[in-house]
Amino acid sequence: MLSYRHAFHAGNFADVLKHSVLTLVLEYMTRKDKGFYYIDSHSGAGMYSLEDEYAQKTGEFKDGIAKLINQSDLPEALQPYIELVKSLNLEDELALYPGSPAIAKYFDRRQDSAHLFELHPTDIQHLTDFCQRWNKCHVKQVDGYQGLLSLLPPPNRRGVVLIDPPYELKEDYHKAVNTIIKGYKKFSTGSYILWYPVVKRGLVDAMQTQFVNSPVKNVLQVEFCQQSDTDEYGMTGTGLFIVNPPWQLKAQLTEILPYLSQKLNHPSTNERPTFTLEQLIEE
Ligand SMILES: C[S@@+](CC[C@H](N)C(=O)[O-])C[C@H]1O[C@@H](n2cnc3c(N)ncnc32)[C@H](O)[C@@H]1O
Repeated sequence: MLSYRHAFHAGNFADVLKHSVLTLVLEYMTRKDKGFYYIDSHSGAGMYSLEDEYAQKTGEFKDGIAKLINQSDLPEALQPYIELVKSLNLEDELALYPGSPAIAKYFDRRQDSAHLFELHPTDIQHLTDFCQRWNKCHVKQVDGYQGLLSLLPPPNRRGVVLIDPPYELKEDYHKAVNTIIKGYKKFSTGSYILWYPVVKRGLVDAMQTQFVNSPVKNVLQVEFCQQSDTDEYGMTGTGLFIVNPPWQLKAQLTEILPYLSQKLNHPSTNERPTFTLEQLIEE
């Protein structure tokens, strides 16, 4: 069953956190000339219109990217991401929003390659169209967990892996971490970014425990919650586990998180968003 469509959620507060981190990680990777693999296990459509019926129906981007794009006091660490979004849009407009493949394409160099997996029949078509004139980009309609493992280790031993499942299936929580553990055994120096929603606290706690009991080292965990934990239905927060983060990422997030907490409150509550940033497992 594949019902999730990222077009409804593009540019929301969870995308802001995920994509600002992805931007910083990819920017760091391109500082060295040596090429790298970008692997995206759950790619989505590639690029999103914020003017179409999906984005307009939920309006989620209005409480995410739209609140940041015209700010003049952005912290330095948030600027590369905002500049990237601006580069896709006309001045003073916010019509397009980059999915993770579009962020990777922005940083693409001749020596790098991108490996994108997506299962949804409509989004694979959008993704294929988006990647058409992108040399060294490989799009496959196969399961992303298996797809990414089949590529590790990359030939030149440099790589960034994004795992961004929809969590429609409860098994995704366990499977995503397990895939990183398997990937790490093949390629322990790669950077892995795993996105998760905070829907039920127990599911996040279980992911943490799974990491802590694994051989994986050097895991940074960041979390940003617009609302307090609840047993009601719905996403109250968002987080990332980042294995082998760039050395300055923690300091950059220390700059970004208080700013996001000031700007991205939940539209229907007066609660100030909270955040945590923790080295879950040392190097
Ligand atoms: C959260 S969205 C991805 C968003 C994208 N990474 C971004 O940041 O722009 C998750 C996507 O995973 C796809 N998907 C679900 N299960 C999958 C699987 N096993 N392998 C590959 N793609 C899958 C869904 O169709 C959906 O488009």
